[in-house]
Amino acid sequence: MGTPFQLLKTDTATQARRGRLQTRHGVVETPIFMPVGTQGTVKSITPAHLHEIGAQIILGNTYHLNLRPGSELIRDLGGLHRFMGWDGPILTDSGGFQVFSLAKLRDIRDDGVAFQSHLDGAKLFLGPREVMRIQQNLGSDIAMVLDECPPWPCERDACARAVARSQRWALQCKQIATESGFLAAGHHVFAIAQGSTFDDLRREAAEALSALDFPGYAVGGVSVGEPEPEMLKQVAATTPFLPANKPRYTMGLGTPPQMLKMIALGVDMFDCVLPTRVARNGLAFTPDGPMNLRNEKYRTDPRPIVEGLANYTSGFSRAYLRHVTLAGEIISCTLLTLHNLHFYLDLMAQARAHLESGDYGSWHRSWIERYEAGAA
Ligand code: GUN
Repeated sequence: MGTPFQLLKTDTATQARRGRLQTRHGVVETPIFMPVGTQGTVKSITPAHLHEIGAQIILGNTYHLNLRPGSELIRDLGGLHRFMGWDGPILTDSGGFQVFSLAKLRDIRDDGVAFQSHLDGAKLFLGPREVMRIQQNLGSDIAMVLDECPPWPCERDACARAVARSQRWALQCKQIATESGFLAAGHHVFAIAQGSTFDDLRREAAEALSALDFPGYAVGGVSVGEPEPEMLKQVAATTPFLPANKPRYTMGLGTPPQMLKMIALGVDMFDCVLPTRVARNGLAFTPDGPMNLRNEKYRTDPRPIVEGLANYTSGFSRAYLRHVTLAGEIISCTLLTLHNLHFYLDLMAQARAHLESGDYGSWHRSWIERYEAGAA
């Protein structure tokens, strides 16, 4: 299988990388943040908005879309891109992780995971064959393998079993995607390295999956409740054992400083519900930390959220945004989601620019210093 990833530059002071990933729906410049569109929508904004704020790729979810409205229905209506009106690349998570966090009465077995739907209690099963079939029905540009994400904290034996099982499932997913012609048609399948807090298991997972030659690799089981230093340690224990010429993705994180620290460890791709979720609660990201627009101090403030940052939301004052947030108006969600996603995407664009100019190391340290001083 040819690699769809071009490594354009590796930083000299850190392990950060500038890259380019080809997909069936266009090119993704890395490092990149992927807005989360779990149910076939990035909540409260439209695909036109996503293009406007510079989104290159978004995330969808096998677990949710398979329960409702069903992946066959989406397939019959032309696939997820057409169904949701987004013509850019889509990465879909495989569903196992969501089963662990959402479904009732789950039973993890060697052949997959049996569970009850969180919507209507229906008894369902996801194994390697099911998750690949669903992601094929959706027409995912990047499909994730089925994995078992151990909880934090986790006993070593249980973690070793999850790593071994995830490895078997990854191999099966790749075989299925090869036999069905999914990979040959230019869709990508990414493997997921687990291993919780055990460095040797992380290394073992990364090396074993690397030998299977996937188009890309994720570090899973991070940002699951562990303190940040532990999270960074886990990623640092994984990335050196992944192939340099393949994209690397840490699943489900993070805050702006966490993403910059992960980039310095050699990570290329991110997704997180944080910018969209907190937007619906009146929180806006700024270079000086998060801003709570419900605060009384913004009642008459005529300034935009971030002075000097031009985006659609910058045409509105803090006073107006506070008003619509407190009044529970829908536009508050839309405007703050647009702002927060633009902030995240712009941060990635800045990271790419500093990687190109060669000063990523010093730039990311001073960016984090300012953010953390403001957030304190
Ligand atoms: N989303 C956040 N973390 C994970 C993980 O470890 N595995 C999967 N499949 N999805 C995730």
